[in-house]
Amino acid sequence: MSDYPRIIQGGMGAGVSNWRLARAVSQLGHLGVVSGTALDQILARRLQDGDLGGHMRRALAHFPARELAERIQREFYIPGGKHERTPYTHLPSHDKDGPRGREELCMVANFVEVFLAREGHHNAVGINYLEKIQIPHLPSLYGAMLAGVSYVLMGAGIPVKIPGVLDRFVHHQPATYPLHVAGARECEEAEMSFDPANFVMENLPPLTRPRFLAIISSNVLAAAMLKKANGSVDGFVIEGPTAGGHNAPPRGKLQLDETGEVIYGERDRVDLDKICQLGRPFWLAGGYGSAEKLRQASTVGAAGIQVGTAFAFCEESGLRSDYKQAILEKVARSKARVATDPSASPTGFPFKIVQLEGTLSEAEIYLARPRVCDLGYLRETYRTPEGEIGYRCSGEPLTVYISKGGKPEDSAGKRCLCNALLASIGHPQVRGNNLIETGVVTSGDDLSTLGRFLSADGLTYKAADVLANLLSQ
Ligand SMILES: Cc1cc2nc3c(=O)[nH]c(=O)nc-3n(C[C@H](O)[C@H](O)[C@H](O)COP(=O)(O)O)c2cc1C
Repeated sequence: MSDYPRIIQGGMGAGVSNWRLARAVSQLGHLGVVSGTALDQILARRLQDGDLGGHMRRALAHFPARELAERIQREFYIPGGKHERTPYTHLPSHDKDGPRGREELCMVANFVEVFLAREGHHNAVGINYLEKIQIPHLPSLYGAMLAGVSYVLMGAGIPVKIPGVLDRFVHHQPATYPLHVAGARECEEAEMSFDPANFVMENLPPLTRPRFLAIISSNVLAAAMLKKANGSVDGFVIEGPTAGGHNAPPRGKLQLDETGEVIYGERDRVDLDKICQLGRPFWLAGGYGSAEKLRQASTVGAAGIQVGTAFAFCEESGLRSDYKQAILEKVARSKARVATDPSASPTGFPFKIVQLEGTLSEAEIYLARPRVCDLGYLRETYRTPEGEIGYRCSGEPLTVYISKGGKPEDSAGKRCLCNALLASIGHPQVRGNNLIETGVVTSGDDLSTLGRFLSADGLTYKAADVLANLLSQ
């Protein structure tokens, strides 16, 4: 186990665990993980915001296919940044077969984020994806591997076909990935494909095969991963329901408490003895962000812990600083609260939301927003009555969703997390009528414990403070 990290800084999308945070953690000898979610939009928007510090352009200059990177820079870079009332360029949505420009942007953006997180040190850097956001997988993985990513971590689904993709990309071979299509029969299954030779120059040396860690929350899923994966699964992150972001739905019937929060029970507990018997290293996540929990994890045979919440609000994270300040102020006054919302996320998974009055995540204000789906990461792929592939999102306008066969009850309470999460990292879309998208902030239940990092003279702390705290005796 000696070359495995004890502390993994969890991947936090979209753009919360950005290259700065992952680099800070990796530089200190732990595993920094960038979020791989929506990186194509994030790169395009950082360039449109003027690429302060020139980091995007510096990384682009290292991409192996120079002409392609230059084209992306020409298309999106605005010297000095766009006017704050000017909307960001709309990108055509990802679909099963491309479009090619979107695949290129995706591959290059994943390269850029990993390249920057690796800059200036020789330690490992990981990347995190949600299995559920399937369409960008192939170009994303290839771009991250071109930049030398050491770990790929994936949850929110059953990623049995990812290990085989990693093996093929080591030698720049074409790879395929099955696309889940709602309502399709087995014989109608769809597949995506990606051939590196169509995008970058030939004769590149072989790449390093990153270790693959599956993020799971049940024994059944861990065993199924080992049995069914088409390549090596190198370990597991076992994530409990107090973790930030999306949570696995509870086993059995969904039950809510009197405040509308999801109730988890005994059946949701993972049997760690059984996990040990699988013979793979594992890390515990969800409320493990303390020195005591790290020691506890070691005593039950874990290689270490994965921590999200404590890093999400530190100086280096991508979360907007006004949001960070407002939330940490609440933490300091012991007023911070997080709720597990069963219906906010179009993925259908429970999603944890920080409760804040005013401009952040107050439900009434947010739900008054006209429904628009123009980013499309959380769209569901479905089979149309004509046998074609269609795309729908339970957060899009209701009539449109229903016309695509969506059920009205599935759209109740849904938020456009794609736009809200990009707003939370400082890239809000601007719409007609002066509407600027508002953010939604996710966090784990550990939020209330962050007061330990705050001092009398400031509501701010660094990733190094989190690590020092985790490793304290
Ligand atoms: C702001 C935030 C965003 C997150 N986004 C993701 C994500 O995109 N993918 C993922 O696998 N986990 C995500 N997580 C979960 C973390 O990677 C990590 O497993 C979890 O936060 C650990 O529990 P803790 O929050 O109690 O430390 C997120 C967590 C937070 C706080």
